[in-house]
Amino acid sequence: MLRSLRERLKKVPAIYNLYMRIKRSITGELLGMTSRSEQDYLYVYSKDFYKGVGEIVELGSFLGATSIPLARGLLQNPSSAGKEKKIHVYDLFVWSDGMNDAVAGTNLVGRYKAGDKFVDEYRRRTAKYSQQIEIHDGDLNVLGWSGGEIAFLLVDAMKSIDLANSIVHNFYGSLIPNEGLVMHQDFAHYYTSWIHLLQWRFRDHFEFEAEIPASSSVVFRYTKQIPDELLKQKTVLESFSDEEVDVAFSYSSGLVSAEKLPHILASKVMYYIHTGRYRDAQRTFDSLVSDGVKVEKHLVDVQNILKDRRE
Ligand SMILES: C[S@@+](CC[C@H](N)C(=O)[O-])C[C@H]1O[C@@H](n2cnc3c(N)ncnc32)[C@H](O)[C@@H]1O
Repeated sequence: MLRSLRERLKKVPAIYNLYMRIKRSITGELLGMTSRSEQDYLYVYSKDFYKGVGEIVELGSFLGATSIPLARGLLQNPSSAGKEKKIHVYDLFVWSDGMNDAVAGTNLVGRYKAGDKFVDEYRRRTAKYSQQIEIHDGDLNVLGWSGGEIAFLLVDAMKSIDLANSIVHNFYGSLIPNEGLVMHQDFAHYYTSWIHLLQWRFRDHFEFEAEIPASSSVVFRYTKQIPDELLKQKTVLESFSDEEVDVAFSYSSGLVSAEKLPHILASKVMYYIHTGRYRDAQRTFDSLVSDGVKVEKHLVDVQNILKDRRE
């Protein structure tokens, strides 16, 4: 309901700006694309659970809403090894139209247009924690990783299958077995179907760690080193059989609570849209409906995509 209210409010920018200002002041959310519960999880992780062994890496930092709680937690980490660490943040820092929504109700409305660089704004917002943050400004596909073992990998940049392959190739191999955590910020987002196929492909190397309520995030623990040949293998969406797709999405659906379920189911429909199999996408959607699944949350998004396709 909140979601459809938001969509309606967006049509009247002045009211939407006000709504977002009030929402942020009530929730205490930092300006960005993540919820308060995700930001709190990151703070608690870096303060109480991070032992100062291995690195904390954040892929997709935008304006710092996830960097700030991580950095704040590090400063309060009881171990001196933890306090001395830096968070490695990666971002292109190039504005796109999709970012306008996230800054509604702030003085950043209209400040940047598509293509503008915004790393200075990131620096300004995170200035208090500049000693805790190492900025990797650029395309993570190109920059890669050469910083040693990774204790915590926040993935908020798996926005395409190419980026997903690149993150797997460049970062997963450095995760510390048994200790390393991967937080998939887009796990319960309809668009990123590849995350489910990859997590299923690597199911013998990860276990479910936590679901962050009121968010799209799910955290996995890296239990066992992924062999090099598997890490280097390029994942091609079309290479999965329909049976594998069914099993992969059932696996993901079985991990999450009811709150996230419609998003995972929507992502399965999106898999068929991404692979150009619109009839199978429609068939998958229709069978969910005939099984009694309520069309809500991200299922509405895929329903709209299918509707637009038909018109
Ligand atoms: C959803 S936003 C991150 C939101 C942020 N975690 C927050 O809490 O507000 C995704 C970010 O990924 C970045 N990104 C997308 N493609 C990238 C790439 N190839 N290399 C580095 N960053 C990329 C975008 O610039 C964007 O800031």
